[in-house]
Amino acid sequence: MNHPPRPADGARVRVWDLPTRAFHWLLTGALVAQVITGKIGGGAMTWHFRIGYFVFALLLFRLAWGLVGGHWSRFAHFVPGPGALLRYLRGRSRREDHHDVGHSPLGALSVLAMLLLLAAQVGAGLVADDEIASVGPLNRFVSGATAAWATAWHTGPGIALLMALVLLHVGAIVYYRVFRQRSLVLPMITGDKTLPGAGAPAARDSGATRLLALLLLAASAALVAWVVRLGA
Ligand code: HEM
Repeated sequence: MNHPPRPADGARVRVWDLPTRAFHWLLTGALVAQVITGKIGGGAMTWHFRIGYFVFALLLFRLAWGLVGGHWSRFAHFVPGPGALLRYLRGRSRREDHHDVGHSPLGALSVLAMLLLLAAQVGAGLVADDEIASVGPLNRFVSGATAAWATAWHTGPGIALLMALVLLHVGAIVYYRVFRQRSLVLPMITGDKTLPGAGAPAARDSGATRLLALLLLAASAALVAWVVRLGA
């Protein structure tokens, strides 16, 4: 079995590989653009649709990257089991839990919730119909009642819950900065954390893994194009 390289104690450790960082900041930009284009409506909806397909491709990419990506980006390595979650909540994390390296257990749960809500938002958008000018490409495959429900979700609770989670997400990051004197943002930019005591495996982030990520993104985009054309 292949083991990722282990850094020396106190070393800088690659935690977020470039594809994960690119995913994060592209997703952040895309969501801001979606809120703006959705609010403007009218002609801006052409861009709302295009960026929505891009978010769809990003989500498919992240799903695949969660299986084959860098150590700390893999679902198997960041989704906490009940035991690790309880230890974390009781403040009794073990050194080998590495809760200070990738996502903390609560952070991991909020990441999963964001990804699920985003998927629901994309799914609802694909079948939505605002009964004015904008109709999702897969609308013809669902009943009028389902389309009405999806449209209400997409424009109501779906976006409200997503925004609430994003606010919580940014709030948690500010909390870590102010009350724990830890910047989580810098590692999401540079990829690295300096860890005391270490023993934590570094994420692979080589030319080969980045090429793999590009291929996965291209495959995700092709899948989205195919899904969108189904409704044509
Ligand atoms: C629309 C806005 C945003 C969304 C949807 C979002 C979503 C996410 C997601 C899905 C992850 C997990 C990354 C992964 O494992 O693939 C994440 C992590 C992270 N995000 Fe955001 N994010 C948003 C805005 C921001 C902003 C504005 C900041 C900076 C102020 C930020 C800082 C971070 C950091 C530091 C992490 C890593 C957290 C950790 O160390 O566990 N995010 N975000």
